[in-house]
Amino acid sequence: MKQLASFAAMALFVGGGALAQGQPGTEIKNAARGGLQDRSARSAPEALFVEKCGMCHRQMGMGTVILARRMPPALAMLEQRNDLTVDYVKEAARSGIGNMPRIQRGEVSDAQLAEIGRYLAKGRP
Ligand code: HEC
Repeated sequence: MKQLASFAAMALFVGGGALAQGQPGTEIKNAARGGLQDRSARSAPEALFVEKCGMCHRQMGMGTVILARRMPPALAMLEQRNDLTVDYVKEAARSGIGNMPRIQRGEVSDAQLAEIGRYLAKGRP
């Protein structure tokens, strides 16, 4: 583990392009397959998520890439998570979080954000 960490640090130091080259531990499964993002949806809430958040939170999105640095890459896409709550999603969207900009009501209404929150929370409050 320690070895892997120092290897990664070295790769970043030397290469800078380490992420793009998919060094072990930085690969995001399915994140760049074919260079196209999956924009499909099977329900209205999912379609809303794709429209409002998917460009950053599906494959290759900046949210997915940044979250993959601080959590298991398999969980970097919000739709794969099993810990999100409606309140957390609303708070992150309205206040902004780290590199994510605040999302204003003119862009995503309260009703839409609640729907997206319920979609991501999968039954959690
Ligand atoms: C412009 C790109 C962008 C858009 C659009 C965007 N996000 Fe994000 N989001 C990010 C980034 C980047 C992060 C990671 C922030 C960080 O850790 O620095 C993030 C993080 C999050 C997190 C926090 C996850 C965690 O575990 O802390 C949630 C929740 C979230 N976004 C929800 C949403 C929702 C819901 C939408 C759509 C309404 C949305 N985002 C739209 C870029 C975006």
